[in-house]
Amino acid sequence: MSLENKNNKPVRDSQIAVNPDPIPYGRQNITEEDIQAVIETLKSDYLTQGPRIAEFEEAFSNYVGSKYAVAVSNGTAALHLCAMALNVQEGDKVITTPITFAASANCVRYCGGEVVFADIDPETYLLDINKVRELLEASPKGTYKGIIPVDFAGRAVDLEAYRNLANEYGLWIIEDSCHAPGGYFMDSDANKQHCGNGNFADLAIFSFHPVKHIACGEGGMITTNDEKLYDKLLQLRTHGIVKDETKYINSPAFAIGSTVRSSVVGTYPNWYMEMQDLGYNYRLTDFQAALGISQLKRADEGLAKRREIAATYLKAFKEKKFIKGQSGVIEGHAYHLYVLEVENRLGLYNYLREHYIFAQIHYIPCHLMPYYREFGWKEGDMPNAENYYKQCISLPMYPTLTDDEQSFVIEKINEFYNV
Ligand SMILES: Cc1ncc(COP(=O)(O)O)c(C=O)c1O
Repeated sequence: MSLENKNNKPVRDSQIAVNPDPIPYGRQNITEEDIQAVIETLKSDYLTQGPRIAEFEEAFSNYVGSKYAVAVSNGTAALHLCAMALNVQEGDKVITTPITFAASANCVRYCGGEVVFADIDPETYLLDINKVRELLEASPKGTYKGIIPVDFAGRAVDLEAYRNLANEYGLWIIEDSCHAPGGYFMDSDANKQHCGNGNFADLAIFSFHPVKHIACGEGGMITTNDEKLYDKLLQLRTHGIVKDETKYINSPAFAIGSTVRSSVVGTYPNWYMEMQDLGYNYRLTDFQAALGISQLKRADEGLAKRREIAATYLKAFKEKKFIKGQSGVIEGHAYHLYVLEVENRLGLYNYLREHYIFAQIHYIPCHLMPYYREFGWKEGDMPNAENYYKQCISLPMYPTLTDDEQSFVIEKINEFYNV
């Protein structure tokens, strides 16, 4: 049977019973220790913005190697705050990749900016720096404000190269590192540069959604080495409120109230605070932070397991004729996803589902989402991304995937292609 002729019906129904436990593409790993950490915090005096937040921020900034970290309610909120802190305004043009979750682009729109997509490199699946350069060269300097490269699937972007380019054009960089805590690239001096370490990007963001490396339920983190941006993010995370008397705009007399004797005017009362900017409530809770701290302790262990799984997939599918491309084994890759590009993707996807293997597709190109089509984006604008989308499929990839489960996935893929 040719692959084209294979329909989307089960090929061998009897095999459905072989694996009654579904195998998803990603899954959280919650241990008894994680549960105890959350329970302890629930019994404490703080449910939100207590000591666990600062502890999580410190542990996370140590993990990625940045000076500062700001915990927020999710990765989308992190992106929004970054765009606000960098002062994205109505009409500001910002470049990003079409192969990402829509949030990477949407943060620009939240601030009224214009999203400009540049195509991906078909080998790495990352935003192609040459395409970004072409865009920048084609317009007068000052046309673009920033770039949002994404460490897609866990593969670290070469941010040194992006920094050099951004400096030429006076641009900021937000690294969307939702897929890559623990990932790194090698810089031109052969040093490891960890995702989110702040050495090249102005700001980096992470997500703690359950399928990510670290799960908080919902949660996010922003990292930076820039103290001013850090202060701004803290303020915007909580309604734009400032609680620092050296920064107050209203006078102490106003703060105290008109009935107070003039001798105390000059000091601000304890209750006083000022809302100086339009911020949001993007806070993480203390019990989510407790979960994050506990999860972070096992992050390296999880990463090592992800890399092992990737090596097994690579070995299984190397040189198979149905493979058009795959994530491979790349130094510093954090393997949030293991992507294959294959013939007859829909057939394979359905065949795997028949066997309770729930592969996923990452991503439908962002520029072809109906929302972005409204801005004039259309088929043919990003040929590499569109071609990738036609054949990509993300295989199960998470630290608790057992050897037997992975063998089952590999067996079913080979079976589908009759090899
Ligand atoms: C690349 C990327 N950016 C941003 C986000 C948004 O993160 P969150 O779901 O925590 O809001 C995600 C989450 O799926 C993502 O994969």
